[in-house]
Amino acid sequence: MKLSDNKATLSFSNGRPAIELPVYSGNIGPEVIDIRKLYGQTGMFTYDPGFLSTASCQSAITFIDGDKGELLYRGYPIEQLATQCNYMETCHLLLYGNLPGAAAQTAFVKNVKYHTMVNEQMQFFLRGFRRDAHPMAIMTGLVGALSAFYHDSTDINNAEHREVAAIRLIAKMPTLVAMAYKYSVGQPFMYPKNELSYAGNFLHMMFATPCEPYVVNPVIERAIDRIFTLHADHEQNASTSTVRLCGSSGTNPFAAIAAGVACLWGPAHGGANEACLQMLEEIQASGGISKVGEFMNQVKDKNSNVKLMGFGHRVYKNYDPRATLMQETCNEVLEALGLQDDPLFKLAKAVEKIALEDDYFVSRKLYPNVDFYSGIVQRAIGIPVKLFTGIFALARTAGWIAQLNEMISDPEYKIGRPRQLFTGSPRRDVLPIANR
Ligand code: SDX
Repeated sequence: MKLSDNKATLSFSNGRPAIELPVYSGNIGPEVIDIRKLYGQTGMFTYDPGFLSTASCQSAITFIDGDKGELLYRGYPIEQLATQCNYMETCHLLLYGNLPGAAAQTAFVKNVKYHTMVNEQMQFFLRGFRRDAHPMAIMTGLVGALSAFYHDSTDINNAEHREVAAIRLIAKMPTLVAMAYKYSVGQPFMYPKNELSYAGNFLHMMFATPCEPYVVNPVIERAIDRIFTLHADHEQNASTSTVRLCGSSGTNPFAAIAAGVACLWGPAHGGANEACLQMLEEIQASGGISKVGEFMNQVKDKNSNVKLMGFGHRVYKNYDPRATLMQETCNEVLEALGLQDDPLFKLAKAVEKIALEDDYFVSRKLYPNVDFYSGIVQRAIGIPVKLFTGIFALARTAGWIAQLNEMISDPEYKIGRPRQLFTGSPRRDVLPIANR
């Protein structure tokens, strides 16, 4: 970042002397006002719950222009990465800052494949869960449990250890998600098959059984790989910020990623695709497209607490470019599977059209986000609704660990410790219980 010739002056109406705050600029995007010395100079904090106007860090990984609906991973537009590259190339790009050449790609994929198995002890963690446990509860436990297997071999201040942890996490997430699925359906776990692609191997571990050969459908393999790429990273979203804050204490990287999994589960964040599909199924069950108007009235009624899941975004005030690509992927998969008349997909497109013509959504700049179509395509592939967010966590692991490693390799980083505006009781003395 570079010091801007622009300065910020903060003046006070109560006679307190004005102060000048430095302004920094990055390569693209908004400038920042450096408030690091504000408390020291004024005894005052800034106040920004939800961090609507706060840059928590500097990063070179992902850039979003919410007004333009632009998403860049290390400068490359998501539209190009999702159609011209695969998820493994995207992981290399996020981790190392460049798209690999053929030799580097071969070496990277081989390295990831070498780490796809998990310790045999991991299966015993699953046995503690009920078969109907939510997969995100299981994933939070399993990813946290990985820290027990690599705790003493992970010195986060050692760049090589950080790289191995990144490869292990990217390699093992598909195995863990597939194990969570197999456990829920009472089928045996399938070991990774390293001759398959990353996406093909995931489909194999999910849907193969020991009884007969499993052939990966190339259209579905491509779709799953694209879903991974579209979800790989997204700047300082809630779960990435959780991973950074958790990791800033110097904790084990597997534990920090487990914190990200836990945060992603929420319906306002990664849990939205599951919630969106449930919303569409409810509308369908209540009468389908003819009932959309009634549902929209509920959404617009503040007291209903009903949201149009899969719509709206803190940053995008235009189309989420991932939603457009996800809709295309949805079309391709449904066509390939002969499901182009899928009623839910038709309903989703009708809901989108109605919302985009409704002033409530237009005036609030609410557009479809990545979660609006992702549930429909995953359902068509045969992925159970409750596993959608587990797939999101699998894909986002590359971004989480790239952001965590970027933070730790920054010599300026320190433990995150926000302050507060205190609205509780001033000092008071304890009275004996007889006097309370
Ligand atoms: C992800 O941050 C990321 O990058 C996240 C993510 C990633 O890749 O990591 O992109 C993934 O989390 C996508 C978002 C998935 N969530 C959903 O689809 C859930 C539904 N969306 C909303 O909950 C909401 O839009 C948020 C949480 C996504 C964003 O909320 P904000 O920015 O805090 O905005 P807000 O809640 O203040 O809403 C502004 C207005 C409000 O109305 P008013 O008070 O101004 O009258 O818009 C309304 C909100 O009520 N609104 C919605 C709405 N989203 C916002 N009204 C109906 N339906 C919605 N979906």
